[in-house]
Amino acid sequence: MPDTVQPIRFGSNSGQPVSRRDGIAKVTGAATFSADNSPANLLHAVYLPATIARGRVTHFDTAAAQAHPGVTHVITPANRPDVQGDPEAKPTLFSFRVEILQDDSVRYAGQPIALVLGETLEAATEGARLLAPQYAAEPVATDLDDGAPFDIEPGGFGRPQGMVHGDIDAGHAAARQAIDVTYETPAQYHNAMETHAIVAEWDGDRLTLDVPSQALNMSCAAYAYFFGIPAENVTVRSPYLGGGFGSKAIPIGPNILAILAARMTGRPVKLMLTRQQMFGPTGHRPATRQRLRMGIDATGALTALDHESLSASSRFDDFFEPASNASQGLYAAGALRSVHKGVRLDIGTPGPMRAPGEASGAAALECAMDEMAHAAGMDPLEFRLRNYAETEPGTGKPFSSKALRDCYLQGAERFGWDGRPLDPGQMRDEAGLLVGWGMGTALFPCPMFAAEARATLRPDGTALVETSAADMGQGAWTSLAQIAADSLGLPLDKVAFNAGHSSLPDGGVAGGSGHTATAGTALHEAGCDVIRQLGEIAATDPASPLHGAGNARFVARDGHLFIEGDDSRSEPFTDILARAGGAALTGSGKGVRPPEVGQEFAMSSHGAVFAEVRIDPELCQMRVTRLVGAFAAGRIINPKLAESQLMGGMIWGTSFALHEKVTHDRTTGRIVNADLAGYHVPVNADVLGLEVITVHEDDLHVNVLGVKGVGEIGIVGTVGAIGNAIWHATGKRIRRFPIRIEDLLTA
Ligand code: MOS
Repeated sequence: MPDTVQPIRFGSNSGQPVSRRDGIAKVTGAATFSADNSPANLLHAVYLPATIARGRVTHFDTAAAQAHPGVTHVITPANRPDVQGDPEAKPTLFSFRVEILQDDSVRYAGQPIALVLGETLEAATEGARLLAPQYAAEPVATDLDDGAPFDIEPGGFGRPQGMVHGDIDAGHAAARQAIDVTYETPAQYHNAMETHAIVAEWDGDRLTLDVPSQALNMSCAAYAYFFGIPAENVTVRSPYLGGGFGSKAIPIGPNILAILAARMTGRPVKLMLTRQQMFGPTGHRPATRQRLRMGIDATGALTALDHESLSASSRFDDFFEPASNASQGLYAAGALRSVHKGVRLDIGTPGPMRAPGEASGAAALECAMDEMAHAAGMDPLEFRLRNYAETEPGTGKPFSSKALRDCYLQGAERFGWDGRPLDPGQMRDEAGLLVGWGMGTALFPCPMFAAEARATLRPDGTALVETSAADMGQGAWTSLAQIAADSLGLPLDKVAFNAGHSSLPDGGVAGGSGHTATAGTALHEAGCDVIRQLGEIAATDPASPLHGAGNARFVARDGHLFIEGDDSRSEPFTDILARAGGAALTGSGKGVRPPEVGQEFAMSSHGAVFAEVRIDPELCQMRVTRLVGAFAAGRIINPKLAESQLMGGMIWGTSFALHEKVTHDRTTGRIVNADLAGYHVPVNADVLGLEVITVHEDDLHVNVLGVKGVGEIGIVGTVGAIGNAIWHATGKRIRRFPIRIEDLLTA
């Protein structure tokens, strides 16, 4: 068993509910987002999205577009300059196959089929309209039923691995009671407030990009691949993101087209997607159909948990929703089976979207658990506790930490779960509305992507800490600085933090809920490196009160170096540095998890979400009146920002349960609600009561910080909790999300 890390000594910064350091810049408009950059001599690019979903483009009215006085260039497959990389290759870990006008084929509606450049955005937009494409369209398949399911070959990004543990047939056979239910979740599209945007500028064979990115250095490598230049020739500036949600972790085709246009014209080029274009080449959460078969013995213990997920992907690339992963690590079933199947459709390639896998998977699993509990005549919380996994089901690994039981109990207590009638349709409020209570369990893994960081202690006693990965709006700019300030023993206002530029140490990926853990560990190590160097200087300097301290451990606090356990001997950083010649000290650090830790331990954040709904018995209008979520995610660096992340996730869970869905026109294959008028998300009036509890959890294994991650888990569990509450209010079990009025009216 690997050594457990020593819990680190946190200073006064971590654990404080510090407000966002970038908040004022954002709300006053001082923060510069990618599309705010307009270098001199700029050209505007607009791409034309395909209006068929399958077939070929047979004709463009290139002459008409070219004749527009503001249009400078029209680029179609007929005249598109060569790129060095293969558009069908996937050059980095997180890559899509891209449509960059390599031929005249159309593989999904919304695919870029031409690019128009103009002196103004209006001219380029009008030029694209004038292209008036003609098509040879073929019949399309856009719904799960339209394709033939196949077994997904696991391995690699987007090809999830199933799992079998125990004898599933024996588990089914041993069941005293069983359910066999099928749930459906729709395709959903990330719609960050900031749409995708890029400003591309070449200088010889060097490329500078203003582009929002969740993975700056990895994206440099991808862009470099397509243009046959070394990755270090690409600079990505991404200081602020208006949301990412997974969509901005992967370079999209339109970005490569903009770079190509800049190279072709020798001018900087700006391209920004419209809201409608966000329903195209930007990834999405694919539709799933999930069959859950469960059995229990006479005590309510699961004898079998069998979860088969079917999800859609494009015809030309792989990303399948890892939805049945949700069942791999949550309940202690005698036998477990998790299966992923795929269908290929005429749609854009899906991708990771906030809580990929677990959001959709737990929606189905947690509703099925509710159905099983009801069949057993058990309270849903009691049923989950009956099947609580003390070790990871399937692998038998111990959890690095797991305070899920506390989440259940604290959440239930705060919600007032006690006394909930087992049967549905039993509660009404004073206005006559049906009231229902439901719950769901949440889990999300805590991966770490490797990151590097640098810390510089300046002779004036202030510090600069740096790592490339961007703050996508979640508050990393603040919580990472809190970690760094503690590692350096400085107050937060003495520590400047720099991120969002690819020339900085590689900050890895702001994704997988792992950014604080990964970049935070790197920053912590960098700060500790500086303090170690400072200790060496002081210990060997006869003029220092710390002289001769030898192997004693030094502690940095309030800008002073102390000997551990001996507060009588200390010296200010500034004095140590001044006597040493007045130069700054620089340290570096890495955020990595030794592989043996992952082999030894199962690592997940956990949570429990409780929902109350009120439903008009005649009109079936549904309101989520209360949501209480209790989450255990290791150490919380900034309670204010963590709570905000968890609330955001729970609101997204409400959105998943009741609002979000794209609908395809089955003749054209187009998305009929490709805008925020037709694609519904909750507004303030839809979110009535929202409460987050962060449950204390010490984790000595997950990383030196004990940080797990809070970015995605808020969605997980919430969807099922709401679905279950709707059943509890009405007795109607709706097995298709989002649940809408018409579902209740017709059920
Ligand atoms: Mo998240 S879907 O890893 O940005």
